[in-house]
Amino acid sequence: MTDKECSIEVSKDGPYIVNGLNVLVNSKGEKLEVQPSIALCRCGSSKNKPFCDGSHIEIGFKDEKN
Ligand code: FES
Repeated sequence: MTDKECSIEVSKDGPYIVNGLNVLVNSKGEKLEVQPSIALCRCGSSKNKPFCDGSHIEIGFKDEKN
């Protein structure tokens, strides 16, 4: 356990913004290299999942709840 906190922010009509993550494991159990701050796709249209590639803008992704 480190003293650095991890946080996840839901951006308006956009990705999850994750700060302070140390390890990200994909569905194949592979560890992905992560930056100090990353954006994870929430719309399902990214061609670089799990990361956001900006496709949410092209498809006009809207989340009325957030
Ligand atoms: S949230 Fe950005 S591509 Fe899906």
